[in-house]
Amino acid sequence: MDGVTVINHPLVQHKLTIMRKKETSTASFRRLLREISTLLCYEVTRDLELTQQRIETPMEEIDAPVLEGKKLVFASILRAGNGLLEGMLELVPSARVSHVGVYRDHETLEAVEYYFKAPENLAERLVIVVDPMLATGNSSIAAVEKLKERGAHNLRFLCLLAAPEGIKNFQEAHPDVPIFTASVDSHLNDKGYIVPGLGDAGDRMYGTK
Ligand code: URA
Repeated sequence: MDGVTVINHPLVQHKLTIMRKKETSTASFRRLLREISTLLCYEVTRDLELTQQRIETPMEEIDAPVLEGKKLVFASILRAGNGLLEGMLELVPSARVSHVGVYRDHETLEAVEYYFKAPENLAERLVIVVDPMLATGNSSIAAVEKLKERGAHNLRFLCLLAAPEGIKNFQEAHPDVPIFTASVDSHLNDKGYIVPGLGDAGDRMYGTK
């Protein structure tokens, strides 16, 4: 699938299977989410550019690789996106964090923003937008629109599960934003849930149902 990277590392797939099980507890779900998000972060940053920095080891001076450019931004789509942040920040502790709260008005179809906070200079940073579920794509599309309005133009979208319908909608709206996911599932049901999926990601991580 063009523009979609499925992260099929065995550890990712194993952890995802446990997360899907309905009997997995909130505590286990949350721990697995933290672990899997570290692994997903490793893959979504795999091709970041490096530059050389002159350093001195105890033995000699060398030119050694360091990340090029300004600090990354992890942009969480509220509320479930927050579940991915902890594990990602463990791997990239200096990343900046943005929070985007947005929904699509059913009547006007306009993206309504109820919360937005982001670092300055979005235009100069790689922005990795995170939400565990790419279902209809509506909130992800709207969140990326809001980030683009503030200048972001180098973006990636990272999720745990994606539905084919959500991928199609998202790619129509944002063909420039590559998608990274641990799985492309079968379909959406008539309530907008991913099947087979894992249920409501927010409820499962926060124990709200
Ligand atoms: N959001 C969820 O948390 N789960 C789904 O299956 C779809 C959207």
